[in-house]
Amino acid sequence: MDLWTLSLRILLLPSVLVFCADLFHSECYTVSGADYRGTQNQTSLDSGKPCLFWNETFQHPYNTLKYPNGEGGLGDHNYCRNPDADVSPWCYIAEHEDGVYWKYCDIPTCRMPGNLGCFKDHGNPPPLIGITETSNKQTIQTCITLCRRQRYKYAGLESGFACFCGNNADYRKHGETPSTDCNSVCFGDHKQPCGGDGRIILFDSLIGACGGNYTKEAAVIYSPDFPDSYGSGKACYWTIQVPGATLIHFKFTFFVIKDSRDMVELLDGYTKQVLVRFDGRNHPSQSFNISSDFIILYFFSDQINQAQGFALVYQAFKERTMEKPQLSNQTQTELITQTANLSINAARSSKILYVITTSPSRPTGQVPGWTIYALTGLLILTIIAILVKALLHLNIKSQRLASPTSLDSCHRGSAGEIWSIFYKPSTSISIFPKKIKGPHDDRNPLVGE
Ligand SMILES: *[C@@H]1O[C@H](CO)[C@@H](O)[C@H](O)[C@H]1NC(C)=O
Ligand SMILES: *[C@@H]1O[C@H](CO)[C@@H](O)[C@H](O)[C@H]1NC(C)=O
Ligand SMILES: *[C@@H]1O[C@H](CO)[C@@H](O)[C@H](O)[C@H]1NC(C)=O
Ligand SMILES: *[C@@H]1O[C@H](CO)[C@@H](O)[C@H](O)[C@H]1NC(C)=O
Ligand SMILES: *[C@@H]1O[C@H](CO)[C@@H](O)[C@H](O)[C@H]1NC(C)=O
Ligand SMILES: *[C@@H]1O[C@H](CO)[C@@H](O)[C@H](O)[C@H]1NC(C)=O
Repeated sequence: MDLWTLSLRILLLPSVLVFCADLFHSECYTVSGADYRGTQNQTSLDSGKPCLFWNETFQHPYNTLKYPNGEGGLGDHNYCRNPDADVSPWCYIAEHEDGVYWKYCDIPTCRMPGNLGCFKDHGNPPPLIGITETSNKQTIQTCITLCRRQRYKYAGLESGFACFCGNNADYRKHGETPSTDCNSVCFGDHKQPCGGDGRIILFDSLIGACGGNYTKEAAVIYSPDFPDSYGSGKACYWTIQVPGATLIHFKFTFFVIKDSRDMVELLDGYTKQVLVRFDGRNHPSQSFNISSDFIILYFFSDQINQAQGFALVYQAFKERTMEKPQLSNQTQTELITQTANLSINAARSSKILYVITTSPSRPTGQVPGWTIYALTGLLILTIIAILVKALLHLNIKSQRLASPTSLDSCHRGSAGEIWSIFYKPSTSISIFPKKIKGPHDDRNPLVGE
């Protein structure tokens, strides 16, 4: 590892931490934002239209008179919601001369982990340059499955029926656009957003995989084939093994399993003992902790009653006893005792507990110790401060994009304006027919006049 990379990694630490915290507290885990319960009350933060109050939209089908018990998140407020299985949250707006009476909301905080965003596609070159496939039965997962089988990291959808696969980690240079640009419905499932004309919606191809191995400190695991419903006869294993963790916090942010024989289990990774089991009758009610560094997640479905499945968020915690080495004698002794007790309780493999020194998204085994980092970092910072200032932007971007295997949104950032300055747009894609869709076309049969 050269000194430049080292110094950058140190600089990046705070932002990486923030992004991973976002992952655990993301405001949406479904692709359509049906679970959005946030408080954005205008269609866009950037000069959007104000939303009407759901307790005052009695001329429209969705209001608190017809849905008095908070169905779909409606209530005495004017926040964007998706109560009708549309592709994204929306709200009624004060009608104007064009007869527009509702609009999708562009909510930056409402993006399921693994949805990398909506980007421009100028066509030459397209953001993903692997394979392409079109289908009039396209869904997000049919595209992701195609890309994952061909071992591509990213799957992208456009115009409702076109699927692109690629490993182009620099997709951001094409420019991010509002999520509402990507709200064309998928031809195979009208509840899912599948990009737009010259707009590609990108996904991490690990979403909805049947099985996988996780070593990150925090991630989201989706049921097989998510956001499509899980298929019949699935048996999937995921391992969650976070080196040095003493405790793993779990939370089902989403759990739709109706069949009592379809189930999710968490097993102790070492003894293979079942710790908890949830199924169509026994739903998880709250978050829970397991004192271990190795857990196996198991999912099983039988031949009938498939449903959408689950999203399981986990976050591993490590001991932080040595953060302040200069302590009084007494406190030090206490801490040592505490550490010993915890390691007895938690570490089945008598692993030595160590201090958090690296970014949470990196397996710690590959990284040198804290001292080297700190000392070298300080040195580097002093010597090349000016250089850093000049080049920071570009390198941070490329650095973030360098680890695309993550399912989380740790690498979420702003659109690549710097890059787009150098990017020469070419003519737009012409192979796709223009889909007739405007603000007036109300594709939602439930939202009537
Ligand atoms: C939206 O919410 C903000 C903060 O809660 C409030 O200040 C603003 O007046 C609201 N706007 C509308 C149109 O209700
Ligand atoms: C709707 O709810 C808001 C917020 O509680 C309240 O200010 C308003 O008066 C309500 N409107 C009606 C018609 O009840
Ligand atoms: C996970 O790890 C196990 C054991 O190392 C391996 O057999 C399996 O193929 C891995 N699964 C994936 C999806 O990488
Ligand atoms: C799980 O552990 C975390 C971190 O120690 C703690 O903040 C949280 O309250 C615990 N949750 C439960 C349900 O025990
Ligand atoms: C810490 O312990 C040493 C001996 O082990 C003793 O000499 C010293 O005074 C102690 N310091 C404090 C702050 O208690
Ligand atoms: C550690 O465990 C011992 C007994 O096993 C107990 O006496 C002591 O209070 C515990 N310490 C802490 C910090 O929990």
